Amino acid sequence: MLDVDEVNWGGDVAIIGLGRVGLPLALSFADHGLRVIGVDKDGRRLATVRAGRMPFKETGTQELLDRVNAKGNLTLTDRVADAGAAEHIVITIGTPSFSHIEIDIRDIRAALDELLPALRRGASLILRSTVAPGTTEFVAGYVAKRTGLRAGRDFYVAHAPERIAEGRFLTEIHSLPCIVGGVDDMSTERVVQLFEVFGTEMLRTTAVAAELAKIWTNILRYTKFALPNLLMMNCEQYDANVFEVIDLINRDYPRGGMALPGFTAGTCLRKDFAFSEERSNAPGMLLAVSRVNESVPLFVVQGVRRRLGTLNGKKVAVLGLTFKRDSDDDRDSLSYKLIRFLERELADIAVHDPFLPQQSEPYEDAVASADVIIVATNHSAYSDTAALNTILMVARPDCLIVDVWNAFGTGQVFSYAAEVAAVTAA
Ligand SMILES: NC(=O)c1ccc[n+]([C@@H]2O[C@H](COP(=O)([O-])OP(=O)(O)OC[C@H]3O[C@@H](n4cnc5c(N)ncnc54)[C@H](O)[C@@H]3O)[C@@H](O)[C@H]2O)c1
Repeated sequence: MLDVDEVNWGGDVAIIGLGRVGLPLALSFADHGLRVIGVDKDGRRLATVRAGRMPFKETGTQELLDRVNAKGNLTLTDRVADAGAAEHIVITIGTPSFSHIEIDIRDIRAALDELLPALRRGASLILRSTVAPGTTEFVAGYVAKRTGLRAGRDFYVAHAPERIAEGRFLTEIHSLPCIVGGVDDMSTERVVQLFEVFGTEMLRTTAVAAELAKIWTNILRYTKFALPNLLMMNCEQYDANVFEVIDLINRDYPRGGMALPGFTAGTCLRKDFAFSEERSNAPGMLLAVSRVNESVPLFVVQGVRRRLGTLNGKKVAVLGLTFKRDSDDDRDSLSYKLIRFLERELADIAVHDPFLPQQSEPYEDAVASADVIIVATNHSAYSDTAALNTILMVARPDCLIVDVWNAFGTGQVFSYAAEVAAVTAA
C-alpha cells in the first residue's frame, strides 16, 4: 500500500472517510482500475489498511484488499486536502444526529473546510453519506460561498446515496440501481459517469429527491420492524403468542406481510428517521416508531421480571452484541442497552458473541448454570440446533429463554428450558 507522499498523484477519485461505506467503495473503484486516494483521520485505521488488513468484517473485502494492494492504485493519506487533486471526491463520513432530532453535519463541514483550498476547477463533489434533505444544496452553496466558484460550471455536486447492506457490499455495488441526484444536470451526468464503472442502472434525479429516497428507505425499514415489535408487546398484554398471530396475519393472505420482531437498531436506522423528523409535518410519528424499537430491551427485562421476580444475583446470559446478524458491527446495538438495564437490576451478566471474541465468553461458559438466556442478536450460530442443545445440557432446567427473534425456533418469546426440552425430545 502506497502513501500519498510516495507518488506523484493526480487521481481519478478520492474517498474521504474509510469506514464501512468508504473503504469497500475505495477498494471497488481501485479494483475497476481507477486511481484512488483514500483519506481518513483515524491513524489506526490507516495503519491497519496499510498493513494489508481489513479493519472490519465485510464479505470478500480482504481478498479485494489483497488484489488492490497488488495493483498499487490505491494511496492513503490522513490529509483531506490531498483529496483536492482528484477529479471526483466522494464523501463517506459519518452523519450522526443530535439528540435535538437534527442532523449533525459538523464532520462534513470540517472536511469541506480542509478540502476547499485545494479543490481543483472542474472537480465533482459527491455526498455518499446519508444526509437530511437540503444538505447537498447546502454543500453546493457552501463551496460557492467559500471559493467564489459556480456550481454546475466550475465544480459539480451530487448526492449518490449508499444503499448497500453491510455484509453484501461487493454483491450489491454491482447489482443495485445507483441513485444520482445532482444540484444541476451537469453535476448529475458527471457523477453518473463515475458510478457507471460498476455497471448498474443509473437513476438520475434531483439532489433532494435522492436524499428523500435514501432516508425514507431506512424509515420504511425502521417502521416495518416497529410494527411486529409493538405487536409483540401487545401479545404479552393478552398472553397471546406473537409468532402465532403473525402467522395468522400472513399465511396465504395476499395483503399480509407483517415482519418478525427483533432488536431493531444500528447506526443507520436509529438516526436516519431524525433527518425527516427535524422538519416533519407530523411531529412525533417517527419518534413513536423509534420509541417502540428502543423499548424492546426494557420489554424483555420487564417480561423476565414478571416471570422470575428479582434478578439480583441471577445469572443472565446475553447472546449477541452486534446490531446485525453475522456482523462484527456493534455500533448503536440495543444489546448494550439491554445489558445496562440488566445491570440496574443487579443481575450477574455473561456475554457471548462469536463475532466479537474479545468481549465474549466461550458459548458454553456463558450459558452454563444460567437462570435467564436472552438472544439479543439473531446470529446464524444460534439457529444451529447445537446451540439450543448446549443450553438444555448446561443451563439450569428452569432457565428462562428469551428469544424475540425466534432464533432457536421454539416459536415463543419467553419459554423455559424444561418445556423446550420436552418439546424437542417429543
Ligand atoms: N454502514 C452502513 O451500512 C451504511 C449504509 C448506508 C449508508 N451509510 C451512511 O454512510 C455514512 C458513513 O457510514 P459508515 O458506517 O461508513 O461510517 P464510519 O463511522 O464507519 O466511517 C466514517 C469514517 O470517516 C472518518 N472520518 C470522520 N471525519 C473525517 C474527516 N474529517 N476526514 C477524514 N475522515 C474522517 C472516520 O475516521 C471513519 O473511518 C453515514 O452517513 C451512514 O449513515 C452507512
